[in-house]
Amino acid sequence: MKIAVLPGDGIGTEIVAEALRVLEALDLSFETETALVGGAAYEAHGHPLPESTLKLAKEADAMLFGAVGDWKYDKLERSLRPEQAILGLRKNLGLFANFRPAICYEQLVDASSLKPELIAGLDILIIRELTGDIYFGQPRGRRTAVDGHFPGADEAFDTMRYSRPEVERIAHVAFQAARKRNKRVTSVDKANVLETFQFWKDIVTEVGKEYPDVELDHMYVDNAAMQLVKAPKKFDVVVTGNMFGDILSDEAAMLTGSIGMLPSASLNSSNQGLYEPSHGSAPDIAGKGVANPLATILSAAMMLRFSLNQPEAADRIESAVKHVLAQGLRTADIWSAGTTKVGTREMGDAVVAAITKKTITG
Ligand code: IPM
Ligand code: MG
Repeated sequence: MKIAVLPGDGIGTEIVAEALRVLEALDLSFETETALVGGAAYEAHGHPLPESTLKLAKEADAMLFGAVGDWKYDKLERSLRPEQAILGLRKNLGLFANFRPAICYEQLVDASSLKPELIAGLDILIIRELTGDIYFGQPRGRRTAVDGHFPGADEAFDTMRYSRPEVERIAHVAFQAARKRNKRVTSVDKANVLETFQFWKDIVTEVGKEYPDVELDHMYVDNAAMQLVKAPKKFDVVVTGNMFGDILSDEAAMLTGSIGMLPSASLNSSNQGLYEPSHGSAPDIAGKGVANPLATILSAAMMLRFSLNQPEAADRIESAVKHVLAQGLRTADIWSAGTTKVGTREMGDAVVAAITKKTITG
């Protein structure tokens, strides 16, 4: 098993270091190799996704990714910005299936801005298509308008598009995931306005016939955004396109009040995957040792489950995380009165201790 370790920028290095310590505490045999990505790679090699990093990523079974980005790169031309590293990895490795669970941990119910009864026990899974849609659709660019409201004016355009196989494969991923959960899929579209998403809806409906045991419903994206804050527990698996999934997954993450807790996985058709926390690089707190490493630690658990075929090891990490929360340990982002505030390293230590103790007691 080979893991490409891509810490990236900002708090990326601190949180990935803790996830690696947790992995080492499991006594599994795997090889790791670290490479620069994002702004850090731009500084060293002049490109956010250097050839050497891409090569390592392709050879590995899985990638443990921290975060990329910093405001200081906002003025660079688009192809050199840190975000291109993550988009490039998605595209080059065909990581089309993005899993973004939003789970509300019992001890963190009060961290949400929603009423506790709305989110206690929340456990939804957003499945976002990750390599198509308006993010990657060609053509795109700038030109002089020949028609529209202002012929002759400068204009910019992107292309929203999906092919049948792209929609079919993500629909299968969603139905199969639902089978392991509460057997409900909500497909989110904008079929009332967009041709692309009428097509999406038709294909998801067709694929759904192969899964008669899974209940399928359809929701327009604006209504889905509303239902997510009104009655989030009504959802089980939500499947949607790249752009709607980007937006709804941030919304779903915030329902739990603690984006510092949420892992994610992006898989291709050979189960090679990129695992990263759902939060960003948080340059404002980088290097201070206060960032929450739990989302990255939980991403390592997803990596063990999805790409490295080690479900027991994944369970051990997840129970260790629940254990440290039950002990009352909290990083600043999830701290509340009556709990103990700890830093990045101490949180990592506590998870390692919980894992090691479990090993001894068998
Ligand atoms: C995400 C991020 C990325 C996206 C950015 C950094 C390109 O927002 O993973 O959700 O838009 O997909
Ligand atoms: Mg996003």
